[in-house]
Amino acid sequence: MICFENVSYSTSGIDIINNVSFKLKKGCFTALIGANGAGKSTLARLCNGLLKPTSGSVSVGGFDTALVRTSRIAKFTGFLFQNPDRQICKNSVRDEIRFSLECVIEDKTEIGIRCEKTLQEFSLNGDRDPFSMSRGERQRLVLASILAAEPELLLLDEPTTGLDYRECMHIMECVSRVNKKGATVLMVSHDMEVVQDFASEVMVLNDGSLLAHGRTKDIIRNEPLLARASLLPPQITELAIRLGGGYENAVTVDDMVLSVKKHIRGAE
Ligand SMILES: Nc1ncnc2c1ncn2[C@@H]1O[C@H](COP(=O)(O)OP(=O)(O)O)[C@@H](O)[C@H]1O
Ligand SMILES: [Mg+2]
Repeated sequence: MICFENVSYSTSGIDIINNVSFKLKKGCFTALIGANGAGKSTLARLCNGLLKPTSGSVSVGGFDTALVRTSRIAKFTGFLFQNPDRQICKNSVRDEIRFSLECVIEDKTEIGIRCEKTLQEFSLNGDRDPFSMSRGERQRLVLASILAAEPELLLLDEPTTGLDYRECMHIMECVSRVNKKGATVLMVSHDMEVVQDFASEVMVLNDGSLLAHGRTKDIIRNEPLLARASLLPPQITELAIRLGGGYENAVTVDDMVLSVKKHIRGAE
């Protein structure tokens, strides 16, 4: 779905992305992690053609982003910006979702049906003014308007930052549902717990260079690698690594509880 070949990107004389190559398969759920300023948002923008590589090539869904119009890529791609307020342009929730649908569907009746279905699925009140809603609700609205268009590729730049646990789970469950239906997801995230729970593979970016790309369970327990990128493993993983002796495979709280109970029973 996405193929980067020796991609570099510079602007105003600053190198932001340095010689990055990777491939993402259709249907994968990949997290992009790295410290602030590592180049994650820039890399995400290179994926939908908003930015073009200074050297190397980016192809998305088989299209070279330097050769096709960005609007061609936008037809099958949903992009969630780091700040949802940059994306909201209508005065009601219903109009916002309709606007997104109008970009991909012509039939007015179909647009109406899909819009009402989306409002229901995301528990949104169509009559509300987006700017009277909470940050979490606005994030949900932007995601709903993106998902209403059923994109094949979802690019999410920190979709859960600033949300409470319930809002975070709601957003992630929606993303997970469309991924299970076949959409490819690339998600920039700072939240290692979210990465661990939802992504099947992880890319680690540091200072514009790709340090690693592998299975989530391998990357999140690789402390030296994470340290190079100024990151920490999720807490349960860190605890499991430190305890060692049979606990090191625990990934979730449930795993850890099970291992501890087994250990206690063994000791009795
Ligand atoms: N348009 C720009 N002009 C100059 N510097 C930029 C521009 N966009 C990003 N940068 C710089 O590039 C680096 C990476 O930015 P960004 O991709 O936003 O990182 P991240 O999303 O990982 O925090 C930062 O140091 C940032 O200041
Ligand atoms: Mg960013």
